[in-house]
Amino acid sequence: MKNQRMNKIRQYYDGISKGYDELYGEEQLKKVKFIVEEFKEVLEQKKKILDAGAGTGILNSFLKNKDLISLDISPKMLEKNKNDKKIIGSITKMPFKNKEFDLVFCITVLQDLNENEIEKAIKEIKRTSKNAIISFLKKSSKKETIIKFLKKFAKIEKIVELEKDIVLFATL
Ligand SMILES: C[S@@+](CC[C@H](N)C(=O)[O-])C[C@H]1O[C@@H](n2cnc3c(N)ncnc32)[C@H](O)[C@@H]1O
Repeated sequence: MKNQRMNKIRQYYDGISKGYDELYGEEQLKKVKFIVEEFKEVLEQKKKILDAGAGTGILNSFLKNKDLISLDISPKMLEKNKNDKKIIGSITKMPFKNKEFDLVFCITVLQDLNENEIEKAIKEIKRTSKNAIISFLKKSSKKETIIKFLKKFAKIEKIVELEKDIVLFATL
């Protein structure tokens, strides 16, 4: 059952991978530009960064001087991603060592997960990194669940509201 759900998500994103940038690229780029500018000082101190649910790699061009690893469940989204360090995998069980990263980005990903998966994902982010920048859609029905687990497992340092999104910076 669990894997069936994950397979569906993978299939969905594999299916839209070709048109993703055309459909959502502009909106995601605007969001990512804002996030990178807003957290410029935080970013300056971070070297090894994970983009969890990286998709086509909209974040890449902003992190050229960093050691960036892109993880995604969808092989076809990752095919479009030009970062040279890419790993196919789920954010709920990541193939990384404890505290391997200085920072994890997780942009517009968690709302695809159910409650149990959101808890696992946030625990995995905490296990693998020291800090996180997490964004999700304001209108998402998972908003309360995401905030509940972030409060349980992390310290939310800053919350920024955009037109359609909420962005959180957390210490883990
Ligand atoms: C809306 S897209 C966002 C992609 C990228 N972060 C961006 O801002 O353009 C959501 C991405 O999360 C990935 N994703 C969904 N569930 C995932 C999971 N359990 N583990 C890893 N990636 C996942 C999808 O394959 C997709 O690439």
